[in-house]
Amino acid sequence: MTQTASNLKIAVIGLGNIGQVVATNLVKGNRPVIVAGRTLSKAQEFAGKLGKLARVLTIDEAIKEADIVVLSIWFSTIKEFLVQYAEALQGKIIIDPSNPIAPDGKGGFAKIIGEQESAGQIIAGLLPKGAKLAKVLGTLGAATLANAAHQQPAQVLFYATDDTSINEAIESLILDSGFAPFRVGALDQSIRIEVFGDLHEFGALGKTVTLEEAKEKVGEKVAL
Ligand SMILES: NC(=O)c1ccc[n+]([C@@H]2O[C@H](COP(=O)([O-])OP(=O)(O)OC[C@H]3O[C@@H](n4cnc5c(N)ncnc54)[C@H](OP(=O)(O)O)[C@@H]3O)[C@@H](O)[C@H]2O)c1
Repeated sequence: MTQTASNLKIAVIGLGNIGQVVATNLVKGNRPVIVAGRTLSKAQEFAGKLGKLARVLTIDEAIKEADIVVLSIWFSTIKEFLVQYAEALQGKIIIDPSNPIAPDGKGGFAKIIGEQESAGQIIAGLLPKGAKLAKVLGTLGAATLANAAHQQPAQVLFYATDDTSINEAIESLILDSGFAPFRVGALDQSIRIEVFGDLHEFGALGKTVTLEEAKEKVGEKVAL
């Protein structure tokens, strides 16, 4: 089969709140998905609910087989994961949905990196050889990511990439997840699409937007 953006293989690693929604949205969009977690039986049980388009592999096998690896794990864990699986992740497209936050002890969340830092830029500095990073899938809370998928009109998922050669792959993943893709720019724009950023559900934006509304906010130029 000729390789196109729409038949690149996606593995979702980490099957917590976000991982489960990401895999479910993809399957609803008719996109096959590999699911992997630390506990095989848990992944098998989840895949059973998704049906034939979901396939369970171990984390090692999933990375080996996939073109796109969604790391639906916490920011600090991603940093460790990139070291642990550095060799296997070489040349892969890595998706980082992380928000660098932790409970603040007062019932809310606080950033665990510098005010002007972004998880996207930090992760970009830790990439295995030849790996390409996209910051995406973290702009909405898990419940909204589930509820706003596959709606008409389509709601936007913002993304950021340094390497524009992967834009098509990322946009295909976003479309199959039931959203409209909108690139905000390079990874130096990640801060805008992480928690507290101006384009995040839990930041100034505060909600989902359509493509038209997103263009009004960001401007078409930045998006290209
Ligand atoms: N929840 C949200 O609303 C939301 C919204 C936007 C972005 N995000 C981001 O999405 C990411 C995941 O958040 P979440 O809410 O889905 O967290 P979660 O429900 O706690 O799930 C995290 C998952 O990571 C897995 N994991 C932990 N360490 C691992 C490792 N070393 N290797 C492989 N898997 C590992 C855990 O597996 P086990 O089951 O084996 O422990 C768990 O399934 C975070 O970076 C977060 O900032 C979350």
